[in-house]
Amino acid sequence: MSVCIASVRVPVPVIAMSHPNTVLPPALPAGRQPNRTPGGRAGRTSLRRIVLRVVLGLVIACAALAGYALAYPERMPDAIGEAVENMTGANAHPVHFERPAVEPMSAIALLGKQLFNDPSLSASGQQSCASCHSASHAYGPPNDLSVQLGGPHMQDAGYRPPPSLTYLYRQAPFSIGPDAADADIPVSLDQAASAAQGVQRAVKTAGAAPAAPAMVPQGGLFWDGRADSLQRQALGPLTNPVEMANKDLGAVVQKLSQDKYRDTFGKLFGPAVLHDPNLLASEAMFAIARFQIEDPSFHAFSSKYDYWLEGRARLSQAELHGLRLFNDQNKANCAGCHLSAVSRDGLPPMFTDQQYEALGVPRNTSLALNKDPKFYDMGTCGPFRKDIADQTQYCGMFLTPTLRNTATRHAFFHNGVYHDLKHVMDFYNLRNTSPEKIYPRDASGKVQKYDDLPAKYQANIDVADAPFDRKAGEKPAMTDQDIDDIIAFLKTLNDGYKVN
Ligand code: HEC
Ligand code: HEC
Repeated sequence: MSVCIASVRVPVPVIAMSHPNTVLPPALPAGRQPNRTPGGRAGRTSLRRIVLRVVLGLVIACAALAGYALAYPERMPDAIGEAVENMTGANAHPVHFERPAVEPMSAIALLGKQLFNDPSLSASGQQSCASCHSASHAYGPPNDLSVQLGGPHMQDAGYRPPPSLTYLYRQAPFSIGPDAADADIPVSLDQAASAAQGVQRAVKTAGAAPAAPAMVPQGGLFWDGRADSLQRQALGPLTNPVEMANKDLGAVVQKLSQDKYRDTFGKLFGPAVLHDPNLLASEAMFAIARFQIEDPSFHAFSSKYDYWLEGRARLSQAELHGLRLFNDQNKANCAGCHLSAVSRDGLPPMFTDQQYEALGVPRNTSLALNKDPKFYDMGTCGPFRKDIADQTQYCGMFLTPTLRNTATRHAFFHNGVYHDLKHVMDFYNLRNTSPEKIYPRDASGKVQKYDDLPAKYQANIDVADAPFDRKAGEKPAMTDQDIDDIIAFLKTLNDGYKVN
């Protein structure tokens, strides 16, 4: 390529100078032979013609090669492919990955869709799953509130921001330590947690396989992983007093037994389901789960980044730079936790490693629960999750969310403390280097670092993984330009990109 570029650049003036109309002699009258003396005027002219043809040929060949390289950087040698990637934003190493198969939805999933969108299943009669998980907002909240309102009169504030429901189809059940399926004797979460204690936690480095098995919890649904399956999860919001607020399972079953559903339930699950409240509720939740699994809009993989991975779209210079910083283990290192590469088994990246981390996000003083200074949402160790509350080494840990469609959100982190990506980025960049810009000061003027976790658990907070490995006063990992570019890249993770 560079040879070509050089040879394209140099001969241009030669072509201009030897343009036939300006330099070549006028056509000779018929019958008259030109003087053939070697070194004579005609000899020089034909030599010039040959040189001209060779140069023209070279230029055309180079132009064709350059055109080909621009169109198919992946077919070029690495160095050329990368040069083209830098210039045009085309992916020099496109990959193939498997999207979930798209098939017509089953009758059960269609029932699930109806239930998902039905406000009459709530105590207020005004709220459905879709109120907080809006299809036109990547199944996340449709407004910029930190938490949503719900309850019997739609006046009670929620505890946490609703996550996007996209890309949960591959979420593993909650576990701690190495793959529990390998163990001979089944272990409880508490046993697993105790076994994991004292084991050096592996540092998370973008692009590198972890050096040790994960000793932090992984998998599960909700910010603290307390639900294991979409089916079990769905009953949570239906009976949560600040959400759909049914007072108990009986109240849910009564609503499911409305005339409009009776026939369908009977047909799909057999008439016995109408006389067994537990079974009815369980089948209804199964239907809601099937909807989230079968409807392709929950895992469309239609972002610009997906198409770029496949070599079907080009990133802008800002997006490309942002991607590189995102993957750079010494800079943003986002991919250390928000995995950005196609998995070894050919599945598209989920932008989460499904693990739990304590990032020390600042307290959101606007939350109703936080009016009580003694209240702390500590994620995995409670208070909403209760089973591993004794495992205090996990206090403050929350599930790493997917960053797919994150740029469509208006409330970030488990407490919704930030409302735009710029503030999220400032948190990652400045938490250690300039904590005074992230946390408030107390009455005496002291910066309240990690103000949303009791002091005794603050050692759980991640200070090992970049960009959190910087010290106070050091240069931050990212410049303002870097941050703008990473945000530009994050926007390429929104579904619904149209490829030409
Ligand atoms: C009032 C708002 C609200 C309503 C209504 C609501 N949710 Fe949620 N949803 C939330 C919040 C808040 C969370 C996170 C809760 C937590 O982490 O403790 C959540 C979490 C979830 C999750 C887990 C997502 C993840 O990434 O772990 C699923 C799945 C889900 N909701 C499905 C549903 C279904 C199905 C319904 C209807 C039956 C529903 N939600 C109704 C607010 C709501
Ligand atoms: C050490 C692991 C880790 C690294 C590195 C990391 N994140 Fe995160 N990220 C998390 C966890 C865990 C959360 C949730 C924390 C919470 O809510 O308390 C999160 C949350 C987020 C959110 C909020 C998403 C939502 O739905 O609310 C965004 C945006 C985000 N990260 C972007 C980034 C970017 C950009 C980078 C690189 C600068 C990055 N993360 C680096 C683990 C990580």
